[in-house]
Amino acid sequence: MPAKKRKAPNGNAATAEPGPEATSTGTNTAPSTDGEQNPAFVLSKPLSVGYEDRQIPELKSPHDVLVRIRWTGICGSDVHYWQHGKIGPFVVEAPMVLGHESSGTIHSVGSSVTTLQPGDAVAIEPGVPCRRCVPCKSGHYNLCPLMAFAATPPYDGTLTKYYSVPKDFCYKLPEGMTLEEGAVVEPLAVAVHVVRQANVRPGQTCVVFGAGPVGLLICAVCKAFGASKIISVDINEERLAFAQEYAATGQFRTQKGDTPMQSGEKLVKECGFEDLGGADVAIDATGAEPCISAAIHCLRRGGTYVQAGMGRDECTFPIMAACTKELDVKGSFRYGSGDYKLAVELVGSGKIDVKRLVTGKVGFKEAEKAFEDVKAGKGIKILIAGPE
Ligand SMILES: NC(=O)c1ccc[n+]([C@@H]2O[C@H](COP(=O)([O-])OP(=O)(O)OC[C@H]3O[C@@H](n4cnc5c(N)ncnc54)[C@H](O)[C@@H]3O)[C@@H](O)[C@H]2O)c1
Ligand SMILES: [Zn+2]
Ligand SMILES: [Zn+2]
Repeated sequence: MPAKKRKAPNGNAATAEPGPEATSTGTNTAPSTDGEQNPAFVLSKPLSVGYEDRQIPELKSPHDVLVRIRWTGICGSDVHYWQHGKIGPFVVEAPMVLGHESSGTIHSVGSSVTTLQPGDAVAIEPGVPCRRCVPCKSGHYNLCPLMAFAATPPYDGTLTKYYSVPKDFCYKLPEGMTLEEGAVVEPLAVAVHVVRQANVRPGQTCVVFGAGPVGLLICAVCKAFGASKIISVDINEERLAFAQEYAATGQFRTQKGDTPMQSGEKLVKECGFEDLGGADVAIDATGAEPCISAAIHCLRRGGTYVQAGMGRDECTFPIMAACTKELDVKGSFRYGSGDYKLAVELVGSGKIDVKRLVTGKVGFKEAEKAFEDVKAGKGIKILIAGPE
């Protein structure tokens, strides 16, 4: 978690820090935004959301682009900020635009941008790192302590008409890929990062706890990476049925009353892992303590565990099993080098179908209703259209 925060730039979140050459930004073939409004869906305090007209962001660097937002998916973290006004150390102290899972079309580009032009359809990577710190320079920019991430205070999110971002955080959608699909690239990139952390290789066996959007996409990426067996675990039967039809090869429903060790052992027996001594890889995408524990217990000796779910800050963890099985235990946070690019390619090439996860679409003015639906656990992924 960031110890320091970068100064929030005017109007919008993650614009590039100007380099020495950034004295004049200029724009290429920029259609005018004069007289246009920039409506935004803003959280002012817990449970209090509404619409505000925000300043249209200026391009702060010649490498920035202005994106007209077309679709935004809602994620659990947006709902959490809406309900509680904070997540861990991140507290909403000033009105903040929500949303970070967006696609859009390029409206205008800075004078040094040659790779994108107005009209291009893009997926927006919503976190811009400082590019200078030790994690950034070691290739792990997702761990940058100065990350400016959309809809993480004090940075505004993408539920707005215009959003500015450095060009290299916009990924052009390949021919045939829709802007709706582009909005689902964000959670898919989370899943790509998790599966890379787990180092899933062809022929491996994986158990994925949680069949929400993130768990489902993790199953899909495991499959794309060649896993031979993918067991989806949840308490919710409907979600499990969907997971098995979508990307998992099997399912396991945890039973109330079983200890995590019993769950893990049952899973090994019922899902055919006995001869292998357990699964090669277990991933938690629930954040729930019983799942974390059961995941450790269903792994084979020398297996790999990745924590993707974010639940309580601390939990009871089967440390002895992790030690004596000599497990590789890893965290996973957002996405880093190459993850967004691969996520776009997986969708563009047809290897992963994200359309099936989109269970609802609403207009910009119905954003609050969409938040209610996500909170109530309706459907899988709901998209909000950009303002007209
Ligand atoms: N690491 C990261 O960078 C990152 C990024 C995005 C989301 N996340 C986290 O990933 C997790 C999953 O996100 P999501 O959007 O899919 O959430 P979600 O709430 O839609 O899905 C969670 C699933 O876990 C299941 N579950 C909860 N408790 C369970 C239990 N005790 N036993 C079995 N199943 C249980 C639920 O039924 C649900 O289907 C969340 O914790 C979220 O905070 C992490
Ligand atoms: Zn998200
Ligand atoms: Zn950095």
